[in-house]
Amino acid sequence: MRTALITGGAGYIGSHACKALARSGWRPVSYDDLSQGHRALVKWGPLEEGDIRDRARLDAVLARWRPQAVLHFAALSQVGASVLQPDLYRDVNVAGTECLLAAMRAANVETLVFSSTAAVYGVPTRLPITETTPVAPTNPYGETKAAAEDAIRRAAEGGKLRYAILRYFNAAGGDPDGETGESHDPETHLIPNAIAAALGKTPTLDIFGDDYPTPDGTCIRDYVHVSDVAWAHIAALEWLEANDEPITCDLGTGQGTSNLAVISAVEAATGRRVPWRTMPRRPGDPPVLYTAGRAARETLGWMPLRSDLPSIVGDALKWSQRLQ
Ligand SMILES: NC(=O)c1ccc[n+]([C@@H]2O[C@H](COP(=O)([O-])OP(=O)(O)OC[C@H]3O[C@@H](n4cnc5c(N)ncnc54)[C@H](O)[C@@H]3O)[C@@H](O)[C@H]2O)c1
Repeated sequence: MRTALITGGAGYIGSHACKALARSGWRPVSYDDLSQGHRALVKWGPLEEGDIRDRARLDAVLARWRPQAVLHFAALSQVGASVLQPDLYRDVNVAGTECLLAAMRAANVETLVFSSTAAVYGVPTRLPITETTPVAPTNPYGETKAAAEDAIRRAAEGGKLRYAILRYFNAAGGDPDGETGESHDPETHLIPNAIAAALGKTPTLDIFGDDYPTPDGTCIRDYVHVSDVAWAHIAALEWLEANDEPITCDLGTGQGTSNLAVISAVEAATGRRVPWRTMPRRPGDPPVLYTAGRAARETLGWMPLRSDLPSIVGDALKWSQRLQ
């Protein structure tokens, strides 16, 4: 059985990736400090507790499991918090990635799939986004992810590293079987927050800006089902096994969905009204983000299978109801 080390395996997307890996015949070993993740979401392989900035711990875990590949999800990923704590974000997201790269090199682990983000593109001047759209992040979170990408490219130049950089757009939904899902604290993502408001778990949903140059005035994002994000990692691993070329891919559907369209979908799924209010725009929030998604489709053979809005919201709702 092949083994993969999953940093951030106790988190939202990492846990879905562990399930996808286990189904594809891999043993996923999660490496997570549980700062944001949940022990209970590590269901498809062992958990090694540790911080990605702890080189000695990483060395010990890599020596114990001798993985063929590393999938690197562990990061701090809230845009607002990154503005308040840029040094912490640089430490975890950039220095943490550099520490992991050095440990991988020392342990002769040569395959890496990295979780990057649409936030590296900042506010694009042309749509749809493609992988050749200039990288121009507008907040510390995006900056740290772009810097981590650079660190990976540098490591590959000086060594034997094969890597895939996957720039996720808005990962959303939950495991269709209800075995894992999104449980961030605080939750900043629109769909779980809209569901929480519809179910009366929170008093109201905040929508940031209703005067954007979009058809209904609210921001437009490209929502991609978390299970589709998960299987893209399997496709990336297969591609890296067969090719000696690094690859950078956007992961999105090519479809933009406005905040108000998400609210309608949540109201349809729950049968309840979502109480919401308009708040001021958040600085640096792009009005519209969606990707052509060509590299993933044409190179990895990946396509979204479950990323229609009703499936995303239905699966997120299923998870939210399990948490009650
Ligand atoms: N959720 C999205 O829509 C989205 C979009 C684009 C990119 N991403 C990226 O995908 C990855 C996973 O995102 P997520 O939504 O699953 O986040 P998450 O917070 O649910 O998962 C991250 C995991 O990393 C762990 N972690 C954090 N710091 C650590 C450290 N120093 N050492 C070890 N473990 C640590 C946390 O405990 C958590 O389990 C992140 O890199 C994020 O930037 C997410």
